[in-house]
Amino acid sequence: MNNQLGNQPREQWGSRLGFILAAMGSAVGLGNIWRFSYVTGENGGAAFLIIYFLCIILIGIPILMAEFTIGRRAQSDVVGSFQTLAPRKPWVIGGFIGVASAFIILSFYGVIAGWTLFYFTNYLTGTLWSAPSEGYGAYFDTFITHPTYPIIWQFIFMGLTIAVVLIGVKNGIEKTNKILMPILAVLLIVLAGYSLTLGGAKEGLLFLFSPDWSAFKNPEVYLAGLGQAFFSLSLGMGALITYGSYLSKEEKLPGAAYSVASLDTLFAVIAGIMIFPAVFAFGIEPGYGAGLAFVTLPDIFDSIALGGLVGLAFFFLLVAAGLSSAVSLLEVAVAYFIRRFSWSRRFATIVIGSIIFLLGIPSSLGLGAWSHITIFNKSILDSMDFLASNIFLPIGGLIIALFVGWGWNKSEAMKESDFGDTFIGHLWIFILRFIAPIAIVLIFLSAIGLF
Ligand code: PFF
Repeated sequence: MNNQLGNQPREQWGSRLGFILAAMGSAVGLGNIWRFSYVTGENGGAAFLIIYFLCIILIGIPILMAEFTIGRRAQSDVVGSFQTLAPRKPWVIGGFIGVASAFIILSFYGVIAGWTLFYFTNYLTGTLWSAPSEGYGAYFDTFITHPTYPIIWQFIFMGLTIAVVLIGVKNGIEKTNKILMPILAVLLIVLAGYSLTLGGAKEGLLFLFSPDWSAFKNPEVYLAGLGQAFFSLSLGMGALITYGSYLSKEEKLPGAAYSVASLDTLFAVIAGIMIFPAVFAFGIEPGYGAGLAFVTLPDIFDSIALGGLVGLAFFFLLVAAGLSSAVSLLEVAVAYFIRRFSWSRRFATIVIGSIIFLLGIPSSLGLGAWSHITIFNKSILDSMDFLASNIFLPIGGLIIALFVGWGWNKSEAMKESDFGDTFIGHLWIFILRFIAPIAIVLIFLSAIGLF
């Protein structure tokens, strides 16, 4: 996939499957395992899960369709798309928020992905095949608080991301996704089944699926569910506008949107069934925080005969899933800079990738050497995540919904979306006009205590 050069046509996905796989690759990533498990744990489980599902259905899928539609129609990056469809109108602010979100999210995403890479190499060398003398929790803490090691792994991961974007998304991602994502799905299902035998099944499943109704009174849980829905679906920052822009007119968008959303949600739920029974079986605190998956998973592998090999496969696949998401994040920024400043793909990728790596260093240091620096009581990494996922992405999504709902001609939007003049098409526009924006605004207002 290249940018548009001179009169050359804009390059497109190799096949319909290629586009869906790339969009799925963007959605399915560390967000489904690392972020989903710890945010679910911190927000009390089932009530959070219900709100997350509602956000996906009422807000996520309609905005996902809006992003695909905008991208395919405009055939440009996230900023260019708004400028093409609504020249000299303020909607383009949504595009700039998207590019800013890409910088922020990838900066800390690289840190977490670096941890997974480190764990992968630990399974490769056998270090984590059995519990280190200090235990898995302390081992994890020692690693993430080290002043340089996590940054070195973050550097390596960002190098890999840059390399894949340089080769071009089409070659790099379409093929690996086709093979590795199904293997990850199978492994997750098997591990979820196994985790249910560990003795914490009842508690784990109750935690995940039997809501504590009082949690519905807590506005933070709504904001967390909204943020997780946006983060996990790669929504609100134009990653899917950018991917949709490499799509030809022959594709049918609604089917692609449903597939991406359901697969992504299924990955998260299965990951939950893998993590939480084990969390209870091993006596780990569900609200442990960002390290939850990293301290729970090694315990699971340790309890399996030759589980080290399972751990090796698991972390390999997790790195791959993280990579295909990181690539989509970098692509949002790179596509913009290539068009706006006429940079070559090579130059843009290396420069932007390096800047994002540097931006991520404080997030890593904030867990160790700079742990005295907190913002609203959160570490630097948590603050970046909160700002981007719970605020920027929903605002970006709000602008995208309002743009398609109000800023665009209704019948044109329905036609471009492939819904056409159908009941679902009208429902989609209605949701984009009213339901999704009102829901996002109410969640924001309740989070700041105004509703
Ligand atoms: N959806 C990815 C994940 O769940 O890991 C993360 C992500 C990718 C968020 C791309 C946003 C984005 F635009």
